[in-house]
Amino acid sequence: MRRLFLSIGLFLVVLNSIASIQTVKTKAKNCEHRADSVVALMTLDEKIGQMVLLTSGADQTGPRMAVNDLEEIKAGRCGNIFNAHTVAYTRKLQEIAIEQTRLGIPLLFGFDVIHGHKTIFPISLGEAASWDMEAIEKSARIAATEAAASGLQWVFAPMVDIARDPRWGRISEGAGEDPFLGCRVAEARVHGFQDNDLSDPSTVLACVKHYAAYGAPQAGRDYSTVDMSERTLREVYLPPYKAAVDAGALSIMTSFNELDGVPSSGNPFLLKDILRKEWGFKGFVVTDYTSINEMVPHGIVANEKEAAGLAVNAGVEMDMQGSVYLKYLKQLISEGKVSEATINKAVRNILKIKFMLGLFDDPYRYCDKNREKQVVFSEENRKAAYDVACKSMVLLKNDKQVLPLAPGKSLAVIGPLADSTEDLLGSWHAAGTTEGVSSLLDNLKKSSGGKVSYAKGCDFSGNDTSGFAEALKIAEQADVVVLVLGEPCGWTGEAASRTSIDLPEIQTKLLQEIRKTNKPVVMVLMNGRPLALERETILVDAILETWYAGTSGGKAIADVLTGMYNPSGKLPVTFPRNLGQVPIFYSMKNTGRPYEKEGLEQKYRSRYIDSPNEPLFPFGFGMSYTRFGYSNLKLSSETLSKEGKLTIYVDLTNSGNYDGAEVVQLYVQDLVGSVTRPLKELKGFQKVFLKKGETRKVEFTLTEKELRFYRRDMSFGSEPGDFKVYVGGDSNATNIKGFRLKQ
Ligand code: GLC
Repeated sequence: MRRLFLSIGLFLVVLNSIASIQTVKTKAKNCEHRADSVVALMTLDEKIGQMVLLTSGADQTGPRMAVNDLEEIKAGRCGNIFNAHTVAYTRKLQEIAIEQTRLGIPLLFGFDVIHGHKTIFPISLGEAASWDMEAIEKSARIAATEAAASGLQWVFAPMVDIARDPRWGRISEGAGEDPFLGCRVAEARVHGFQDNDLSDPSTVLACVKHYAAYGAPQAGRDYSTVDMSERTLREVYLPPYKAAVDAGALSIMTSFNELDGVPSSGNPFLLKDILRKEWGFKGFVVTDYTSINEMVPHGIVANEKEAAGLAVNAGVEMDMQGSVYLKYLKQLISEGKVSEATINKAVRNILKIKFMLGLFDDPYRYCDKNREKQVVFSEENRKAAYDVACKSMVLLKNDKQVLPLAPGKSLAVIGPLADSTEDLLGSWHAAGTTEGVSSLLDNLKKSSGGKVSYAKGCDFSGNDTSGFAEALKIAEQADVVVLVLGEPCGWTGEAASRTSIDLPEIQTKLLQEIRKTNKPVVMVLMNGRPLALERETILVDAILETWYAGTSGGKAIADVLTGMYNPSGKLPVTFPRNLGQVPIFYSMKNTGRPYEKEGLEQKYRSRYIDSPNEPLFPFGFGMSYTRFGYSNLKLSSETLSKEGKLTIYVDLTNSGNYDGAEVVQLYVQDLVGSVTRPLKELKGFQKVFLKKGETRKVEFTLTEKELRFYRRDMSFGSEPGDFKVYVGGDSNATNIKGFRLKQ
C-alpha cells in the first residue's frame, strides 16, 4: 500500500511537471521546484544514490573500480551511468531504474563525446584551428543529435582547458593557448550541445571541464601540480570555463589537479566563491574519475571518508566512479560533519537537470530505435565532418607553390600515417570506429588524377630502416613525394605526456633520405600537439597540418592537397622550434631586458645562446593558396572614452589566384599598467571569404570593457593610457595604430 501511495505521489508530481513543462518552456525554476517535491519523497539512501555516477561495463576511461552497475542501479545506489550508449543498452539499464526501484527516478547517461559521437570530427584542437565558430557549433550540434539518438543525455564536453605546454597530451582536446579564442570556442560548443531547450530530445547537457586550470601541469606531466598566481588564473585559465557557464552549461567537472595546494574536488574557492557566488552557476558539479578518492594521495586528507566530507562540503555534488559518497556520506551526516541540507541541495540540482532534460516526462525519450538508425553516422553528418575537417587544416609552408598538387602528377605517398584510418579519429573518439573511414592514400588514389604509389617507409618509432629502400625507389620514380608523418593517435589525449615534442627520429631519418632524391616533398602532419619541426621544415617544400581529421578526414586532406579546398586554418597554439623554448606563447611579457636583434648591446638580454626567441610558427599563423594583403588600417579616433567605442578599419585584398578565407585578427597592447601587461592580447577575429581579386573593408569595435584586467589591487577594470592595435593574419601582425584610453 505504501508503495502505491508513493507511486501516486511521484505520479502527481510528474503529472504536474508534465503539465507545467508542456505549457511553458522548461524553466529551471519550475524544474527546481518539482525537484524539491521529489527530494521530499526520498530516503537518505536514495538521495545519496543520485549523487553517484558509475561507469558501465561497456567502456573504460580510467582506473577500473569493480562495481556491478546493474545491481547498484536496482539497489538505488546509482542514479547516473557513463560509458553506456546505444538505445538498446541504455534502455535496458533505464528499465531497471524505472521499474525496479522504489521511486523510479530516471538514470542520467553520460559519455565522452568530445569531437563527435559516431561521426568523428577533427580533434578539438583541429576544430579550433578553423577559427570558424559556426562550423564548431555545427559540429557540436551533430555530436549532440547522434549522442541523444544513442540513448545519451549528457556529454563530458566541452573541454576548455587553456594549454601552453605541448608535452601535455591533452592539449589536443582543447582550443589551445588563448583565452579569447578559447571563450568563443567554449560558447560555440555549449550552444551546439544544449541549443536552447534541454527537453528537446536532440539536445544534450554539456559538461564544461576540467575545472580548473588542468592544462597547466608542472613539466607538462598529466595530473601534475598546478601552481600559479590568482591573476594568471583569472586572466588566462578561468575565462573559458566562465564563458561556457555564461553560455548556459549546466554541469561542470572538477579537475584532477591541485591548484595552489588544494585539489579542485575539495576547493571551495573554486566551487563556491567563484563558480556559485561570482558566476552564479546554476547546474551541478561532478568530479572527474575517482578524483575525490585521489585527494588521499594528494595528501590533503588522511582517508577516503575525510575526502568525501571535504568534497561534499566544498560543493561537489556527484562522485564519478569513486563510490566514496556511497560509502561514507550517511556516516558523515550521522556524525554531524555533513548536513542533510547539503545533500538535499545537491540532489535537487541533479534532479532539476533530469527534469529539464525531460527524463521525468518520458525516461525513454532518448531511446528511439528508428531515430538512432536515421541519425547516427548519416551521410549528411559525415559530409559535415568533411567540411569541418577541410576548414581545420593549416598550411604552414608552401615554397614554389608545390601545393596544390597539379592534376595528373605522379605521387609517391609515403609514411606510417599515409594509409591509417584509426589514427584519423584521434583520441577520445567515443563510439567512432574505422567503419566507413578511408585513408589519405585511398583518397589520393581516387582524386589525384595521376599514378599514386605507396610505401610505408618506417614505423612511427624504433630504428628499423628496412622500409627505406622501397620508399626511396618510388620517390625517385614520382613527380612529387607526399610524406605523411606525425604521432599515432594514442600519443596525445589523457595520460599521454611526452618528454620530447620531436618527430620520432626514424621518421626524420626517412625524410632526410628522401630529401636526397631532390624531388618536391610535401609533409602532411597528423598529430595532436605542437611538434618541434625545425630540422624537418627546412627539408620540405610544403607542410600541411591536418591534426587528426576525423571520419571524413582522408578525403578532406586529399581535397586540400589537390586544391579542391583552399586551406584557411590558423594555429590556435604556438609551434616552438624546440622544447627548450616551452612555455612559449604569443602573449608573453616584454621583460626588463627584451631582446631586440638590432640592439647594439645583445648579450645581457632575455634570450638564448643556442636558439632564437621566436617560435617556428606563431599563434594565429596559417597560409592559403592565394595571397591576402592588408592596407588602410584606420581608427575612428585616436582616443577612447570610458563610455565610447573605437572602430578599427582595415582593407583586406585577395590578390592571388584562388578564392579563399582569411582569419583577420585584432590584437591590443596596453603599454603601461599598474602591473606589467602582455605584449599582445587577441581581442577580435573575423574569418572573411574573398573571391580572387576582391577587396573588403573589415571592421572591429573596441570599448573600454575589452581593456579591463586584474589590476595591482586585483580589482578588475581598465586604466587610462596609451594602447596599440595590431591587425593582421597572425600574432606577428605588423599593421599598427595607437590610441589613448581617456580617464
Ligand atoms: C577521464 C577524463 C575526463 C573524462 C572522464 C570520464 O579520466 O579525465 O575528461 O570525461 O574520465 O571518462
